[in-house]
Amino acid sequence: MTGIWELWRDRRGRLSPLRLAVLALLLLPLAKALYDAGAIANGARPLNDLIHRTGFWALVFLGVTLAVTPFRRIARYGNLIDVRRMLGVATFLYAAAHIALFFADQSYDLGKFVTEITKRVYLIVGGVAFLGLAVLAVTSTDGMVRRLGGLRWRRLHQATYVIALLALVHYFQQTKADLTVPVFAAGLFLWLIGYRLVAWRQGSSELSTLSLLALTIAVSLLTLIGEALGVAIAFRVSPLLVLETAFDIEVGIRPAWQVLAAGLVVVAVDAVRARTVRPRVRPAAAE
Ligand code: HEM
Repeated sequence: MTGIWELWRDRRGRLSPLRLAVLALLLLPLAKALYDAGAIANGARPLNDLIHRTGFWALVFLGVTLAVTPFRRIARYGNLIDVRRMLGVATFLYAAAHIALFFADQSYDLGKFVTEITKRVYLIVGGVAFLGLAVLAVTSTDGMVRRLGGLRWRRLHQATYVIALLALVHYFQQTKADLTVPVFAAGLFLWLIGYRLVAWRQGSSELSTLSLLALTIAVSLLTLIGEALGVAIAFRVSPLLVLETAFDIEVGIRPAWQVLAAGLVVVAVDAVRARTVRPRVRPAAAE
């Protein structure tokens, strides 16, 4: 029998290269922080640096967790489902570290910690997202899936999309100047939500290559419009100013183009796999 801590083994107790690769990915931010330890310690605010790193990676892994279901279908790689729980729990652990570091930054003073959170909207939003992640982590065990029943468990875990939305709002609210990365992250989340909406509307979780292409183009356009409106509101400038810079490489590659590039990679994977792999993945029971 496989021990609970033997994360590199699959359900049958075999060494799983996929699990090993995901474990390495999950430990990468930790390795990077250790590598940067000197710079972090000598920086102006070491704890704040770590708060930013853990928050950022919690959001990244939340996105990767959400991408498992669409991508296993697109890549026709059903085994991906085997690492979804690991990714979800790691998201929670990075978020927990993020909050523990914030607690340390408040000099471990519980009263100050609670007052700080309740007086700032972006921290309340982050707090609600964290509570949601905690509920999902607690209900992620096989026992809880059995106890809740497949349907109720699936419905509960669809809250991941709401949690991701709250985490994104928290990310935007605390960003002071450059909105490029938050807008790119929002574009990717929009693509994932769009995928689920199209699948729900057509009554099948498999989208054609053409639908994926249409979704990618629509989301890229929305990202461009969203960035223009967001910058216009945040910095009180004309939205046309942002649209004018969309084709100016010197200003940087706008998030909409980055979303388009990522989406086109997914479309290409789907096109290749549709021609090379048959039959398609059968949906798992607990999705
Ligand atoms: C009680 C809950 C939370 C607290 C107290 C909290 C606190 C903070 C603080 C203090 C910052 C830095 C703000 C600054 O320097 O101005 C931050 C940034 C951030 N937080 Fe949270 N947070 C919470 C929940 C979350 C959750 C659940 C997520 C994601 C799943 C998250 C993701 C982020 C991200 C992405 C950043 C920005 C990182 C970057 O700069 O790259 N936070 N948070």
